[in-house]
Amino acid sequence: MNVASTITVPNHIAIIMDGNGRWAEGKGLPRVAGHRAGVKTLRKLVEHSVKLKLNAITAYAFSRENWQRPDTEIKLLMDLFISALRSEVEDLHSNNVKLQFIGDRSAFSSKLQHSISQSEKLTITNSGLRLNIAANYSGRWDIISALQSVARDIELDKMTAADINETLFCDRLSLAGLIDPDLFIRTGGEQRISNYLLWQTAYTELYFTETLWPDFDAEQFDLAIKWYSKRQRRFGKTPEQIEQTLKS
Ligand code: FPP
Repeated sequence: MNVASTITVPNHIAIIMDGNGRWAEGKGLPRVAGHRAGVKTLRKLVEHSVKLKLNAITAYAFSRENWQRPDTEIKLLMDLFISALRSEVEDLHSNNVKLQFIGDRSAFSSKLQHSISQSEKLTITNSGLRLNIAANYSGRWDIISALQSVARDIELDKMTAADINETLFCDRLSLAGLIDPDLFIRTGGEQRISNYLLWQTAYTELYFTETLWPDFDAEQFDLAIKWYSKRQRRFGKTPEQIEQTLKS
């Protein structure tokens, strides 16, 4: 019996896969070994999420701030993205997973950009789990990009400032059309959002664990989901109002 048969599972989970470097260093390995192990963890949890019939996973693979890392680590990470796409995309496709990258991909090599667009094209009509990979992404960049798109339409007289509302704005964010994350998981012990999905996590339940990402397995994923299922999501209402809605 899987966790989904006993409790309410979240629709959409946002993940910060932190702790790869420390995991590797703790084993006397180069940091990239941690990132390689991290890909394996993501793969296992995607398989698990397919079984649980989750709607979407949005995983942070590379932030705009990560360009500040040593050149060698960046180069190895970029190579890893290409090889991970090459080795995983067929399997994702056969599991009906729809892969989408969010973030400014124009900063990547043409080889990586090609690999990203080929993977997206292959899986675009799949109707199962949506796997969003945030790469060269940041929440503030996402909001500024949406704002620029609105400003351009105002400049072109397609709309006025009075037309701006949450729906119109959300439609211009990277995850347009997708329900906001219900649950946010960050591994690796830090308790912050680190410029991830700033707009989309307004009402998301935040789960932090000390476990380093390569050690985060299906059992621990289920624990996070069980923790989520016990949260009372009020969206500004009182506990009494929520209980009343549940009874009716
Ligand atoms: C954070 O750990 C992790 C990253 C910056 C990279 C995560 C990327 C993957 C798992 C690859 C996913 C790839 C694809 C194509 C799906 P850290 O290096 O910050 O760890 P530390 O905090 O221990 O130093």
